[in-house]
Amino acid sequence: MALDMWHSAPLRRFTTRIEGSTDLSALEGARYIVMTAGRPRQPGMSRTDLTGVNAEIVGNVADGIRRYAPASVVVVVTNPLEEMTHLMAKRTGFPSARVIGMAGVLDSARFCSLVALEGIARPEDVDAIALGSHGAEMVIPLSLAKVQGRPLEQLIPKDRLAAIVERARDSGAEVVKLLQKGSAYFSPAESAASMVAAMVKGDSELIAACVQSGGAYGVDDTRIGLPVRLDTDGVKEIAELPLRPDERAALAAAAGSIAKRISELA
Ligand code: 2OP
Repeated sequence: MALDMWHSAPLRRFTTRIEGSTDLSALEGARYIVMTAGRPRQPGMSRTDLTGVNAEIVGNVADGIRRYAPASVVVVVTNPLEEMTHLMAKRTGFPSARVIGMAGVLDSARFCSLVALEGIARPEDVDAIALGSHGAEMVIPLSLAKVQGRPLEQLIPKDRLAAIVERARDSGAEVVKLLQKGSAYFSPAESAASMVAAMVKGDSELIAACVQSGGAYGVDDTRIGLPVRLDTDGVKEIAELPLRPDERAALAAAAGSIAKRISELA
């Protein structure tokens, strides 16, 4: 796979050398690490069904990261996302800012792409953010969603919007069902890559990512999707957005559910 990717270098105009390895020592000196290792869901499984098998994988890789790349920033993709992000942070012992869960970028992109299917805008012209959990407790604050500056709630009927939110929330499972073996590749990969690119550039654009909340938005201090700005060393800050009371309440409920699942990890 590494050689196949390298063959595309002239076309994609990159010079980054690519190598494959089965030994974690290959992580030596890595600055950014994207953690995707783990079992994907099978049709009918929830992400939480993966906890046991993936916790062991994440634990082993975390030990390797701590040993070979102690100054790295880790972007976790492995599911269940919030729990595995928490485990990665605990097992590496890294500061919370350097262990970030990739979910909100993917879920926000999925929602925006589904809105674009309504034929009212190009995907890139839809501006919305997915917070909360990477699953049932996903929170998409529609009060903030816009199309070229116009409130989305004025462009799409309420019940239709609710259906799009629901489909975005279930998009991971929808792809698993269509694939039958494995889970989504391309959009999670693009999402993780965009987070690493933002950190390499020190680009503090607002994105959604799974971070330690530290009490932000008045929610439990747990791993949860929040609006953040990244810099070269990981999470630079959590951004305060003006959420409606019902959106804040949904975020608080998501934090409570996540905190309970994480407490059961032990
Ligand atoms: C997804 O939602 C794999 O969690 C990822 O497709």
